[in-house]
Amino acid sequence: MAKLIIDQIEYEILDGESISEICQQAGVRFDCNTGVCGSCHIKILEGAENLSELTQEETDLGMDQDNRLACQCHIKTGIVKITF
Ligand code: FES
Repeated sequence: MAKLIIDQIEYEILDGESISEICQQAGVRFDCNTGVCGSCHIKILEGAENLSELTQEETDLGMDQDNRLACQCHIKTGIVKITF
């Protein structure tokens, strides 16, 4: 089990799961769900190393380890703290 903390609210999430559904529930905006629009931009406050590697789509939109697209991220394990 991993943990996603969005603006101080904690969510349990299975190891390896996409974080998009929980982020959507927390209020992150998703327009395309395919990594092209940039609307789901989140900032990683802690635990960036616990997320999946940057995708080509994220790199194309100028994202980095601390700025990710929620629709492209899976949590590996551990704790990841984000804001948006
Ligand atoms: S929803 Fe468009 S980039 Fe994630």
